[in-house]
Amino acid sequence: MARELTEVGVVGLGTMGAGIAEVMARAGLSVTAVDVDEAAVERGRGHVEQSTGKALARGKLAAEDRDAVLERIRFSTSLEDLAHAELVVEAVPERMELKREIFSALDKICPADTILATNTSSLSVTELSVATGRPSKVIGMHFFNPAPVMKLVEVVRTVVTEPSVVEDVEALAARLGKVDVTIGDKAGFIANALLFGYLNHAVALYENRYATREDIDAAMRLGCGLPMGPLALMDLIGIDTAYEILDTMYKQSRNRLHAPTPVIKQMMTAGLLGRKTGRGFYTYA
Ligand code: CAA
Repeated sequence: MARELTEVGVVGLGTMGAGIAEVMARAGLSVTAVDVDEAAVERGRGHVEQSTGKALARGKLAAEDRDAVLERIRFSTSLEDLAHAELVVEAVPERMELKREIFSALDKICPADTILATNTSSLSVTELSVATGRPSKVIGMHFFNPAPVMKLVEVVRTVVTEPSVVEDVEALAARLGKVDVTIGDKAGFIANALLFGYLNHAVALYENRYATREDIDAAMRLGCGLPMGPLALMDLIGIDTAYEILDTMYKQSRNRLHAPTPVIKQMMTAGLLGRKTGRGFYTYA
């Protein structure tokens, strides 16, 4: 039978980490949310306040539940505060070395049966698992942006992940109100492997000036029933994150579909990272 997890941790409080902390707290779990310094922690807290505020305004959350959600998240700048977590989700930027350092540190801090999960979109979960002394307790738990809204969690098992760990994470996903799909450890898993070729192609159409950004987005929203056009979605995902995902998939498969369209790298270098910096393909107030 799956373990009922009550104490969880999240490391990295960017858009995804803060969203994951919110989802966990909304499901009644006690969350320790960690980032490197006070400024990062405050940004994370801001994300949660803004998102729960929006949920309140849309009638998805009652005022007293919002207060309870915020109270269930303990913010911290120290990984040591994860010493009692039964599961930790890492959601720091997509850099293998940084993630390996965090996994190795968590391995020393957390009890031997703590599950160490990564929200990576495309890096190898297996490579992360061997940065710890407990590869069988390491798993991918991949949420989608915005985490409080998107229903899917991809559960990524490596060749050494214990079946009971997969079961525990699937049961947790259900408690979070999510639907899980399970996949082996390959770059892009299911959704990104299929999505990013399309997004990259849309950027190439735009770069080659075949159509305006508005028309590309309108075509896919109004012609194909997608909630958002591809360029608006790139801005939501973050141009840097999108570049890293494409680059990793391209390096793994050498499939030209995933060779990042040059303007993506240029936008990244120029700091046009999408919604989070106020400008990407579109400009945000
Ligand atoms: N908490 C709870 N519910 C919320 C919420 C919040 N913070 N914000 C919005 N919602 C709810 C709204 O109440 C609304 O619900 P109903 O339909 O029941 O009324 C619904 O979400 C949509 O909200 P809005 O119409 O107000 O639109 P929005 O602008 O707030 O959000 C969107 C729209 C959810 C982002 C939608 O455009 C969408 O689904 N876009 C596509 C997103 C997508 O494809 N994400 C995946 C990206 S890929 C990825 O993440 C993987 C990776 O590794 C990079």
